[in-house]
Amino acid sequence: MKRHANHLLVLLTLLIPSSAQQIGSIPEHHPQLPTQLCTTSGGCTTRRTSLVTDALSRPFHAAGNPSVSCNTSPINATLCPDAATCAKNCVLEGIDYGSIGVSARGAALTLRQYLFDGKAYTSVSPRVYLLAEDGENYEGLKLLGQELAFDVDLSRLGCGMNGALYLSEMELSGNRGELNPAGAAYGTGYCDAQCFRVGWINGMPNLNNSGACCNEMDIWEASSVASVYTPHTCNRPSSFLCEGDECDRTTAGSGVCDKNGCGLNTYNLGAKQFYGPGLSVDTSKPFTVVTQFLTSDNMTTGTLAEIRRLYIQGGRVIPSTSETTNTGVAGIPGGYKGAITQDYCTARNTSDFNRLGGLAGMGASLARGMVLIFSIWNSPGDFMSWLDAGNNGPCNATDGDPKRIVELTPDVSLTFSNIRWGDIGSTFGASSTTGIDGDAGPTQEGAAAGSKLIMAAESGAGPAMGVGVGVTTTAVVGFAVLLGMLLS
Ligand SMILES: *[C@@H]1O[C@H](CO)[C@@H](O)[C@H](O)[C@H]1NC(C)=O
Ligand SMILES: *[C@@H]1O[C@H](CO)[C@@H](O)[C@H](O)[C@H]1NC(C)=O
Ligand SMILES: *[C@@H]1O[C@H](CO)[C@@H](O)[C@H](O)[C@H]1NC(C)=O
Ligand SMILES: *[C@@H]1O[C@H](CO)[C@@H](O)[C@H](O)[C@H]1NC(C)=O
Ligand SMILES: *[C@@H]1O[C@H](CO)[C@@H](O)[C@H](O)[C@H]1NC(C)=O
Repeated sequence: MKRHANHLLVLLTLLIPSSAQQIGSIPEHHPQLPTQLCTTSGGCTTRRTSLVTDALSRPFHAAGNPSVSCNTSPINATLCPDAATCAKNCVLEGIDYGSIGVSARGAALTLRQYLFDGKAYTSVSPRVYLLAEDGENYEGLKLLGQELAFDVDLSRLGCGMNGALYLSEMELSGNRGELNPAGAAYGTGYCDAQCFRVGWINGMPNLNNSGACCNEMDIWEASSVASVYTPHTCNRPSSFLCEGDECDRTTAGSGVCDKNGCGLNTYNLGAKQFYGPGLSVDTSKPFTVVTQFLTSDNMTTGTLAEIRRLYIQGGRVIPSTSETTNTGVAGIPGGYKGAITQDYCTARNTSDFNRLGGLAGMGASLARGMVLIFSIWNSPGDFMSWLDAGNNGPCNATDGDPKRIVELTPDVSLTFSNIRWGDIGSTFGASSTTGIDGDAGPTQEGAAAGSKLIMAAESGAGPAMGVGVGVTTTAVVGFAVLLGMLLS
C-alpha cells in the first residue's frame, strides 16, 4: 500500500508539472497571413493561414525561473542531463511579434532587420513559418507541376541584405511528440540543406552534435540589387539528423545535403541590366514574382524538368532573361533558356546537387510537400558577397558589412504580400487583378501598388520603434540613396 502510494506520488510529480511546464504562460498569438490557393478552373480561394516564429527565437527558460535560459551553448547540464529531463525542465513561451520585427497586415508581411529601443538599434533578423488553417501544423505546399506567386517590395534592401522566401521539407507537425508537446505551434522542427548544428532540434536538446537536414528550395533570396533562386537537395526524404562529417562538405563528394545548390542569378550569368533599381525588373518599385515548377509532362505527378521564373510589373509579364555571356551555359544542349533545368545544372558543374538527387530529387521533395519560410538577414561573416558582390552583383567586397548597413540604413525592411499558389497560370493574369485585400494586385501600376505597400509597412512598425524615429530615418535613408545616385 505504501509502495503503491509512493508510486502514485512520483507519477503525480512527474506528470502534473511536465504537462504544464513545457508550454509557458505567455500566450502565443500567431499573426494572420491569409494566402490563396488557385486552380485554372475555379480561380483563387482565400485560406486562413498564419505565421509562427522559430522556437529558438522566443523566450525559452527553466521552469519556474525565467532568468535561466534553456537556449545556451553549451546546453546547461544541470537542466539537461538527458532529453527527457531537459524537456521537463524547459519552457517555451509565446512572443510579441512586434518585438522581433514581424508585422502582418491584411495579406502583407513586413520583416525588419533592426529595431530601435530609444538608444540603439538591435538586430532581430526574424524568420517565420507558414502555419496551416488549424494553427497547429505547418502548411505543406505541394508545388510539383504548380506555381507560386507573391508580390514583393524590397526597395529598401541594399548591398549585404537578403530578404528570403523559401521552402524546407520540414515535418508538418514540427516533430511534435511526447518530449516536444509544443510542436509547430511554437516553431519547432526547422531544417534545411545546410544541416546546421543548433542547440535544439525538433524541440529536443541536441546532446550529440547532430545537424538538422532536409531538402530546401530557395525560391527567393534577394535585395534591390541582386537576386538568386536555388534548389538544394539531400540524399534522403523528409527531415533527418546527420552526424559527424556527413553534416558538412569536408571534401568534394562528401556530405548528405547539397550546400551550394544549383542557383540562377541573372547578373552572375552576364545580364547586368536586367534586375535592379531602374532596370528591366525595376526593384525601386513593388513587383510580382512567379516561380513555376514544370514537369516533363505538365502533370503534378511527373518529373521536375524546369524551374521557370516570371516577373510582373506595371501590368507587364517579364520572363527571366535568357541573355548570358557565360559560355558554359550557352553551350548546353538546345541552348540556355533562362531557366533551371538539369542540363543547366550539369553545365554549371553543380556536382553535389547532381549527386544528391538533382532536379528530379528536388521535384520529389516538392511533390511530398514543403514548408514556406520568410526571413530577412545579413551576414557578418561573408557580407552576403555570394549574392551581390564580385561576379554576383554590383556591390563591392565591404558594402555588405552589417556594421555599415545599420549605420547608413537602419530601417531596412521588406514586404511580401498576396502569396498564392496552384495550377500553372492560375495565380496571375486576369483572375488576379485584385489581390487578396483588393488593393495590391499584381497588375496594377507599380506606383499605386507601391505606395499602398509602403504604407502597410510603415503602419506595421514594431512597437519598439517610435513612429517619429521611423519617419526620420526613412527621410535620411531616402536622402542617402539620392546622394548615392547623384555620386555614382
Ligand atoms: C543551469 O541551470 C541551473 C538550474 O536551473 C541554474 O541554477 C544555473 O544557474 C544554470 N547555469 C547557467 C550557466 O545558466
Ligand atoms: C543523437 O540524438 C538523437 C536524439 O536527439 C538521436 O535520435 C540520435 O540517434 C543520436 N545519435 C547518435 C549517434 O547517438
Ligand atoms: C507545359 O506548360 C508550360 C507552361 O504553360 C508550357 O510552356 C510547356 O510547353 C508545356 N509542356 C508540355 C509538354 O505540354
Ligand atoms: C565546368 O567544368 C568544365 C570542365 O572542368 C569547364 O570547362 C567549364 O567552364 C565549367 N563550367 C562552369 C560554368 O563553371
Ligand atoms: C566599397 O564602396 C564604398 C562606397 O560605396 C567605399 O566606401 C568602400 O571603400 C568600398 N570598399 C572597397 C573594398 O572597395
